[in-house]
Amino acid sequence: MIIFKKVRAKNFLSIGNQYLEYDLNKDHLTIIKGINSSGKTSVLDCITFALYKKAYRSINLPQLVNNINKKDCVAEIEFSIGETEWMVRRGLSPNIFEIHKNGKMLDQHSSAIEQQKWLEENVLKMSYKTFVQIVILGTSSFIPFMQLVPADRREVIEDLLDIKLFSSMNLLVKEKIKEMKDSVKILNLQKDSCEDKIQMQRNFIENLEQRSRNDIQEKSDTITQLFASVESIQTENGVINTQIQELQTKLEELTDVSDKLKVLMSDKTKLTIQAQNLKETFKFFKDNDTCPTCSQHIEAEFKKEKQKETKKEMSGLKKTYDNLLESIESETQRQNRFREVSSEVTDLNQKISYNNYHIQQRQNQIKELHKQIKKITDAINIKNDEHQKMDEYLKNLDEIKTGVAEIKDEIYNHEYVQLLLKDSGVKSRIIEKYLKIINSQITKYLNLLELYVNFTLDSEFNEQIMTPTFENFSYGNFSEGQKRRVDLALLFTWRYISSLKNSANTNLLICDEILDGSLDEMGHFAFLKIIKDEMKNSNVFVISHRDGIEHRFDKVISIEKKGNFTVKTEN
Ligand SMILES: Nc1ncnc2c1ncn2[C@@H]1O[C@H](COP(=O)(O)OP(=O)(O)OP(=O)(O)O)[C@@H](O)[C@H]1O
Ligand SMILES: [Mg+2]
Repeated sequence: MIIFKKVRAKNFLSIGNQYLEYDLNKDHLTIIKGINSSGKTSVLDCITFALYKKAYRSINLPQLVNNINKKDCVAEIEFSIGETEWMVRRGLSPNIFEIHKNGKMLDQHSSAIEQQKWLEENVLKMSYKTFVQIVILGTSSFIPFMQLVPADRREVIEDLLDIKLFSSMNLLVKEKIKEMKDSVKILNLQKDSCEDKIQMQRNFIENLEQRSRNDIQEKSDTITQLFASVESIQTENGVINTQIQELQTKLEELTDVSDKLKVLMSDKTKLTIQAQNLKETFKFFKDNDTCPTCSQHIEAEFKKEKQKETKKEMSGLKKTYDNLLESIESETQRQNRFREVSSEVTDLNQKISYNNYHIQQRQNQIKELHKQIKKITDAINIKNDEHQKMDEYLKNLDEIKTGVAEIKDEIYNHEYVQLLLKDSGVKSRIIEKYLKIINSQITKYLNLLELYVNFTLDSEFNEQIMTPTFENFSYGNFSEGQKRRVDLALLFTWRYISSLKNSANTNLLICDEILDGSLDEMGHFAFLKIIKDEMKNSNVFVISHRDGIEHRFDKVISIEKKGNFTVKTEN
């Protein structure tokens, strides 16, 4: 419960540079008197300005500054809630907004708006709309409950029943659900992109592996071809070796040719010399009759014999020579054959060397290919970088999916809570419960104010009025005096409800000129009786310029203007 203790102001409307202060918690029933424009209603502006930074009357804030002094406009209000003493000081020209708790000024929020929100939500726990419904009953600027729009009626009731929390929670939950749905959207986008990445990576790895496998296959095929080639060269070498062996045998048979030819040539030389000698001997015995050495005559017979003998010898030699030539010819042919075979062997040996070189080359190639295949196989088997990347993507996708599932669970829970927090949820149950009390209180106060109608509010806070004579009546149908009675009945009801809930419960009630206008003597009387009987612990201020009613109050405060400024006297 808020106990308002003091309110004071200076340079505020018609109040001058001296603080004008009201004790709000001293007397049960106070009347504030004064002629028109003396400054009586200003106390309402002081209170609403100090608490809500709003003038009660419909003016702008700068218009609150006293237009003579034009500066240093300050309003202060003191109140306690439980054990805690609060003081709010607010000023214009210069701007001031201080909240004091138990004599100590609190740290200022970075923004005055935030600080005001904090004050209303955490300290006062009621909005301006509710405050003016339960603390102030006025003529000017006061909008009776029945003239509020449905949303404002609901706000007031929620404040009174302390269920505004559900609306705030509903807003928070709604925001949270939106945030979570946005997060799910973002996560789903991330999930899509992650899945794309995974697909691409999978294709990439498959390609890579396929290429590796193709590569291995190609290399294996090449190895097979190389082995086949080596084998065929080796086979060829085998054939060549056989040929060489055969040729070697032939060569061995021909190895003596050179010696033989040498001997034959030497024989030929000898035979040539012998033939020459025989030719000369023949010629000598043919041409000479005398021996040149001994000068003895050579007999013709002898000569003939000698010539015949020589010729025979020559003919024998010729035969030998011809045979020799034949042998030479035959050996020369053998020698040529030897050369040919040697050359063939050399060629074949060269061919084997050439083939061996190729075999070596192919074997080196095979070795190199085996090495490459091993490298590729290792790369496939070992979890390489690409697989690691893939693992990371999969892990990431898993995390995203878990995140989405968790948030969806949260959304589901929050939506359930939202259902409970909706106007039709828990709140409506609470309101239903209180509606009975509210309606019975309204009836009670209307009866006390001597308005005998059946007035009830439904769960949408629309009135249903039945009078003994009319069935479909609305607030607008009432006379001003009746309307005032309804306003008062509702005011008392709200105060009763707030005292039950201890939510918007306060000691203070200020009625501005409600006794002066439409309310007749009976109503006036009933009103004061209700205050006396039902609101013993409240501090009620009645602003009036009606004379002759002071005796009904515990205290009389007179307001008047002295010079240009409002002053106050108490008795
Ligand atoms: N900025 C201002 N500076 C100085 N005086 C102002 C300023 N704004 C309004 N006033 C004066 O302050 C007074 C406010 O009076 P208020 O409304 O409190 O009078 P009241 O006693 O309630 O009168 P009524 O009986 O007619 O309702 C008026 O005299 C008004 O002219
Ligand atoms: Mg007034």
